[in-house]
Amino acid sequence: MNSDILEVIYTEEQIAKIVERLAKEVHHDYADTVPLVVCVLKGAVIFMTDFVRQYEGTLEMDFMDVSSYNGTESSGEVRIIKDLDASVKNRDVILLEDIVDTGATLKALTSLFRHRGANSVRIVSLFDKPSGRRVDISADYFGVTVPDKFIVGYGLDYNERYRNLPYIGVLKPEVYS
Ligand code: PRP
Ligand code: MN
Ligand code: MG
Repeated sequence: MNSDILEVIYTEEQIAKIVERLAKEVHHDYADTVPLVVCVLKGAVIFMTDFVRQYEGTLEMDFMDVSSYNGTESSGEVRIIKDLDASVKNRDVILLEDIVDTGATLKALTSLFRHRGANSVRIVSLFDKPSGRRVDISADYFGVTVPDKFIVGYGLDYNERYRNLPYIGVLKPEVYS
């Protein structure tokens, strides 16, 4: 285990089961359409690669890079760093996120895609942190609820590090204090 990690809260095996379940649930609802699955970089990138390989249907993938965090605090302001390549007009868009915390990122992206004429916009988030919510939004599909702790791994970072950990862990407080 990485020496900066205090405890593991979801193992690689547990995450794989959650992702498989989500892919099945979503495919059940999208069997008659070819959704545009949007990975919200960078946090959702690991989830994206696992999710799409568990999805037993036709889909298209695109990537958008937005950021709202500095260190461990959400700034509440969402910056677009890289926009989509595809047009979302008349598309069924699935927004893939690693975690919904304040909700600011997803609120901004769902409004943007609706404004651009998407046929539908739904959110799939691996983790939900309801204790962090400041904006009224929830995922249409989510994996598990996580406690009010700063978690890293499986795409989630602290100052860009730890995204590559295959599990979800809690960082030792001395790492960020
Ligand atoms: C993190 C996380 C979500 C978002 C959730 O991304 O990956 O995208 O914050 O927080 P919110 O609900 O408060 O908006 P971040 O902005 O840190 O960028 P990253 O994905 O590149 O790490
Ligand atoms: Mn993110
Ligand atoms: Mg981040």
